[in-house]
Amino acid sequence: MVLEIKKDIFWVGVIDWELRDFHGYKTPYGSTYNSYLIRDEKNVLIDTAKDYMFIELLYGISNVIDPKDIDYIVVNHVEKDHSGCVDKLVEISNATIITNEKGKEHLSLYYDTEGWDFIIVDTEDEINIGNRTLKFIRTPMLHWPDNMITYCVEDRILFSNDAFGQHIASSERFDYEIGEIIFEHAKEYFANILMPYKMLIPDVIKNIKKLDIELICPSHGVIWKEYINEILKKYYEWATNKMKNKAVIVYDTMYGSTQKMAHAIAEGLMEKGVEVKIYRVSETPLSLIMTEILDAKYVLIGSPTVNRNVYPEIGKFLSYMACIRPYDKIGVAFGSYGWMECATEKIKTLMDNLGYKIVDDESLKVRFAPKKEDLRKCYEFGKRLAEEDL
Ligand code: FEO
Repeated sequence: MVLEIKKDIFWVGVIDWELRDFHGYKTPYGSTYNSYLIRDEKNVLIDTAKDYMFIELLYGISNVIDPKDIDYIVVNHVEKDHSGCVDKLVEISNATIITNEKGKEHLSLYYDTEGWDFIIVDTEDEINIGNRTLKFIRTPMLHWPDNMITYCVEDRILFSNDAFGQHIASSERFDYEIGEIIFEHAKEYFANILMPYKMLIPDVIKNIKKLDIELICPSHGVIWKEYINEILKKYYEWATNKMKNKAVIVYDTMYGSTQKMAHAIAEGLMEKGVEVKIYRVSETPLSLIMTEILDAKYVLIGSPTVNRNVYPEIGKFLSYMACIRPYDKIGVAFGSYGWMECATEKIKTLMDNLGYKIVDDESLKVRFAPKKEDLRKCYEFGKRLAEEDL
């Protein structure tokens, strides 16, 4: 499928319908690798796709120009979902790569780039391609050191690469064709890809807002046209920790004890008007949990102690959380144990590393199974947590 999104500018990307995992991020809706082709005095391809989708990408390009006639390939980001076809396309076209210093270095670590031609760009650099000018803005660590975005001045298009992406495979190419549900996909993407570096985003938004933009063309999902202002606003909110009065309770359970505690704490929180989400971690994609944590004020993690450690699925969750690093939260650890309580300490260590304000209470550790009185204390703790001016 090929789509002319503006005169002589084409979406030539590929749709990965079956993708279900993106380095740990569950993708039940698949994804796309968006590649854009500008037909001008110099033909420019912006980003490519994963290597196993080369034939599909080549087919798309061939519907517009002979792939031999690609003059420039802009590599906004070297992660292989976008650079995976660059080597084969260079072989076919001998195209010059436009990227930044880090991009060049990273390409040379993935591919044998000897003999490739490069134009190295930095923020504010411009390249004329005939009737159009491409301008570049570096966005390092969003989410790799090599990231940049490319702005086509005359057509007012921002090729934003990973920024503003969504993991969704669809026959639609524009936001308005999907409707407002697209923000849910964008939020999940933000939470699982960009959250670790979100402190860098407000400055990027500030720079983007200086541009006159008609389309934002990310490298995953649909193109932003109708909801540009809204997605910029949401990115700013997500990046600046605009939190809801919401608690995410994540737990796993061996014989139901920790589960009962989770439910009792939730009752107390709800009693005081806190929005509550509860997830048994072994039955929920970690990426979904992380999306809910993004704008939550409270994060409560419950685990039984198993041989001096946390429950295995909780260990996996803590490891994912250490990568994504949601911060500025109020943290609570709870759980059941038999003869030696260790799980809550392990959980609190991670929370401490993330800088959480930890709220502790002895009633959050229960031997074997919680009795009625134990559950009442958990419930009371939930109420107290919601009431405390933390
Ligand atoms: Fe879509 Fe960082 O790659």
